[in-house]
Amino acid sequence: MSPRPLAEGTKTVPQDELKRIAAYKAVEYVKSGMVLGLGTGSTANFAVARIGQLLKEGKLKDIIAVATSTRTAEQAVAAGIPLSGLDDHPLIDLSIDGADEVDPDLNLVKGRGGALLREKMVETASATFVVVVDETKLVDALGGSGLAMPVEVVQFCWKYNAERLKKLPELAGCEVKLRMEGDNPFVTDNSNYIIELYFKEPIKDAKAAANAISSIPGVVGHGLFLDMATHVIIASVDGVTVRSK
Ligand code: 5RP
Repeated sequence: MSPRPLAEGTKTVPQDELKRIAAYKAVEYVKSGMVLGLGTGSTANFAVARIGQLLKEGKLKDIIAVATSTRTAEQAVAAGIPLSGLDDHPLIDLSIDGADEVDPDLNLVKGRGGALLREKMVETASATFVVVVDETKLVDALGGSGLAMPVEVVQFCWKYNAERLKKLPELAGCEVKLRMEGDNPFVTDNSNYIIELYFKEPIKDAKAAANAISSIPGVVGHGLFLDMATHVIIASVDGVTVRSK
């Protein structure tokens, strides 16, 4: 099941609309009084906007949220969603976030928006983690989309760490690249850099790869989100599917 383009022909739905549909479906899991984790990215944006709308309409009450990026925090504040942090709310009832790849066991690649570290912190603290995607994000095996998998590293000696990542046998000779923003390195909300991994073939053993990446001093996070999602909501031209653990 490789990532595939949206269906062509008469039955087409713009990708943004599929993202909105998946996000709105996820917001049906939100109940008044919950502590929420708010994801980052174009799909999660729809969920944040919807939660704000329901709060304004009085259909949701007493929500507190933890944002996974400064961008999402700004959006949440503008939408009237009260914010907190994991220091004060270490137990999150429900997080909603997008993903870059979803495998058949609901393991994920995340973080192409650069928010992977805070996303993983918030989502591992969540009792329920609902992932919202359109069907183009489905893969047979992680690393199979050909898109970059991010690794967040401290700025100090990042080239050295990029070389270490490249040589990990668990990553089977993947290519590494520093993420750029214009002429400068992309800097995360945590003042770190992102090394992007490009896989020549899907990752054979994602757990072994995750452990190997994490074992390098100076790596502060990576985009493999394994055994974390409790539900994945997939919007396609044929409708919405919910897969659960
Ligand atoms: C940001 C993320 C995003 O959730 C992921 O990149 C999917 O983004 P989008 O919904 O825009 O396709 O992990 O760090």
